[in-house]
Amino acid sequence: MTEPLAAVVLCAGKGTRMKSGTAKVLHPVLGQPLGAWPIGRALGLGCDPVVAVVGHQGEQVQAALEARFPGRSLRFATQVEQRGTADAVRTALEALEGVTGPVVVLYGDTPLLREFTLRALVDAFLRGSAPLALVSTVAPDPSGYGRVLRVSGRITGIVEEKDCTADQRPLREVNAGVYAIDAAFLREGLAQLHPANAQGEYYLTDLVALAARRGEVGSVSAEFEDTAGVNDRADLAACARVLQSRINLEHMRAGVTMQDPASVTIEAEVTIGPDTVIEPNVSLRGKTRIGNGVTLGQGSVFTSTEVGDGTTVLPYSVATDSRIGPRCLIGPFARMRPGSDLAEGVELGNFAETKKARLGPGTKAHHHCYLGDALIGAKVNVGAGTITCNYDGFGKHVTEIADGAFIGSDSQLVAPVKVGEGAYVGAGTTVTEDVPPDTLVFSRAPQIVKAGWPSRRRAKAPGRR
Ligand code: UD1
Ligand code: CA
Repeated sequence: MTEPLAAVVLCAGKGTRMKSGTAKVLHPVLGQPLGAWPIGRALGLGCDPVVAVVGHQGEQVQAALEARFPGRSLRFATQVEQRGTADAVRTALEALEGVTGPVVVLYGDTPLLREFTLRALVDAFLRGSAPLALVSTVAPDPSGYGRVLRVSGRITGIVEEKDCTADQRPLREVNAGVYAIDAAFLREGLAQLHPANAQGEYYLTDLVALAARRGEVGSVSAEFEDTAGVNDRADLAACARVLQSRINLEHMRAGVTMQDPASVTIEAEVTIGPDTVIEPNVSLRGKTRIGNGVTLGQGSVFTSTEVGDGTTVLPYSVATDSRIGPRCLIGPFARMRPGSDLAEGVELGNFAETKKARLGPGTKAHHHCYLGDALIGAKVNVGAGTITCNYDGFGKHVTEIADGAFIGSDSQLVAPVKVGEGAYVGAGTTVTEDVPPDTLVFSRAPQIVKAGWPSRRRAKAPGRR
């Protein structure tokens, strides 16, 4: 192909059937706004420019899409009033100035389209004699879709559901809403359309009949599942399920074991190394990166978190914006809040919570603790119930614990405070001053021993045990 492809993705509609205060294309599907899926396809196809037409909540839609595709050849056009799909494409024409090759038009609510369908569409366009080609599909239930009209096999036009005659309504070949259109024909054709239909809108689909007068309209037949449009929340859930099964399949093909893939959520940008095992009900979100040979225990939820090779995460552990090194042992029920940075071989056990905390290699915090705003060295032992008191009601302060220190159970470290290398903090100590290296501190009251005290007490209150 000589001419570069351009694309227009329509994202201006409100999505009335979503019954939402949020524009339809902003509803997230596997961590991406709905509209980002078809835009990603167009960019993947090499289209340049890709023009997204925004309108309803246009500023938010544009901001969300720009954030998703930084530095890509994405442009925006604003359709102030939503007067139909043809009107939406018309607003994109300015951004398409100078484009002479085919323009691929997609709708922002069709997230399941596959790149190979788009490639086949462009081929059909180049082969066809008309200045337009389209993708059609056979719908089990065509209601809501435009019907493809054919005479002796040749496409003659598309009629929208609301404009169908009784004869046309049962037709099951429907318009998927994906087209390749010659740029010059697009400019010329759009100027000729009229909103003379049941909805009083400018229909892009009316271009098909115009194109059919110039030659044979090319068509590609796609699986219905690949072309499904999201019009309501049930469609949104159904599409998310399909996308999830595709993503999970890809990971499995790349060497990841999933015990119950249907229960696993993995968002679009997540990467996972081979020989990783994912137990049921795991969610991996955002920019999470999982290494090789990792085990992710049942019900764990990791968001934008990096996990090193060979780490084992036991069930129901939660991590956000954190880094977990290789060969760590995490959970069950561990919580790593943003800024947790665990080096190689760290062990973080049940009900251990970390936040903005660096734990050096081989450090262990096996049970019930809160380590926030903490710089902890290598091979430190953090006893059960240890708390870094990082907040004094006004500001956050840092606790530093040097290599090889031992923090006894149920200790509080009142920040800012430092515990030196190899120091020992006795169980139950409230550390308020820096502890020098190789020093034992404890702040317990001395133990008082009174033999026979319980019997004497009971004798004074008979009937009590
Ligand atoms: C459209 C097609 C129909 C096709 C179906 C496939 C038309 C007239 N009909 O119907 O033939 O079977 O898609 O899913 O094209 N939009 C704008 N501005 C507007 C109107 C719509 O940007 O003024 C955007 C919407 O945000 C949406 C897309 O265009 O992303 C499609 O609009 P929608 O109203 O959902 O069209 P359908 O009724 O589904
Ligand atoms: Ca639609």
